[in-house]
Amino acid sequence: MNSLQGKHILLAMSGGIAAFKVAELARLLIQDGASVQVAMSEAATQFMTPVTMQALTGQPVYTNQWDARIPNNMAHIELSRKADLILVAPASADMMAKISLGLADDLISVLCLARECPLIVVPAMNKQMWENAATQENIQKLKSNGVGILGPTSGTQACGENGMGRMLEAKEIFEGVVAFFQPKLLTGKKVLITAGPTYEAIDPVRGITNKSSGKMGFAIAQAAIESGAKVTLIAGPCHLDTPLEFTGSVNRINVTSAQEMSDAVMQELDADIFFAVAAVADWTVENAATQKIKKDGSNQASPELNFKLNPDILAEVSKKSQASQKPFCVGFAAETNDLESHAKEKRVKKNIPLLVANLGPSTFGLDDNELLLVEESGTSKMPRANKLTLARQLINHISKKI
Ligand code: CTP
Repeated sequence: MNSLQGKHILLAMSGGIAAFKVAELARLLIQDGASVQVAMSEAATQFMTPVTMQALTGQPVYTNQWDARIPNNMAHIELSRKADLILVAPASADMMAKISLGLADDLISVLCLARECPLIVVPAMNKQMWENAATQENIQKLKSNGVGILGPTSGTQACGENGMGRMLEAKEIFEGVVAFFQPKLLTGKKVLITAGPTYEAIDPVRGITNKSSGKMGFAIAQAAIESGAKVTLIAGPCHLDTPLEFTGSVNRINVTSAQEMSDAVMQELDADIFFAVAAVADWTVENAATQKIKKDGSNQASPELNFKLNPDILAEVSKKSQASQKPFCVGFAAETNDLESHAKEKRVKKNIPLLVANLGPSTFGLDDNELLLVEESGTSKMPRANKLTLARQLINHISKKI
């Protein structure tokens, strides 16, 4: 997607077995348009070779502050001045202690002390080292000094133990870096999102659902988090991972039926923007059986299902928002035909400022889409792109209206 086009990242590696993940991280950053300059501590070179990192990044790797390749022999100034971001990965307990104290006795710590650009550290260590009060104090100090912290996570560790301290995977660190560079358009704003399908039971083992994958709603959640928002994501049954919290926060509430989704939304209504992305079932089965419905051997009659209308969540929220002008309601519609006229009609019927429409169901489950934005002032198109790119464009569009 080239979100990092033109960004210069100083990838500073300290010692740790997780250093192997940084090879993949460098590749992901470069693929997305960044230029990556690697600096390694003496300890880091015990785990990965500078040759590997040089081959992957196409740039000479620096391993000490006295490197004569820098004409003025001031590697700490030269390298850090060119950077838009210093990313310390892996960040060992020792390196974090040095950075938090402002020590400068090796290339990585001196680069961090001499920097003018933002700094993110990616901790990687054994769980006892992570839990140690000294490390926790250092982390707090780094945070209060404005240093970003990505991870760690919990899991099996190289030493065979299991617990907190494991470094994030390369893709997660990459996503954290991309999030860091996204404009913080929604800082201090609360965003409420419904996503995925709903499921209406017929009996304990059967039900009615639809083809929504949840991808668009989750992409909007990710884009909102990246923009600094506090997100509540109310998800129908789907198998997507909750977007990671890098620059905002997310509270995921899993629901099954439309009624449960409606109840959860009404609980969380104190929001600035409401994205109704879920494909909500319009009807539920009023006479759902409490036991599995059996075929009756003597008579092959089909079961009779009585349907009753589900609450229209978006229309309800829109009604409540009229007095306070909050939340700003965004509806979504997948139509099979007459996209523009159906979309215009739906926006007016739901009484919302923005309806986002697309032609379905062929886009269900795909990673990309193209959107038609219908507003009172007219319609505009967002050409085919990855759903996350579209989600970022939507956030950008809406941030100007709230
Ligand atoms: N929606 C909702 N609650 C419902 C039905 C729909 O919140 N019970 C929301 C959807 O999340 C979406 C918008 O309303 O943002 C439009 O959904 P859609 O199913 O396309 O519209 P309907 O009003 O159900 O109209 P129809 O099914 O007749 O096209």
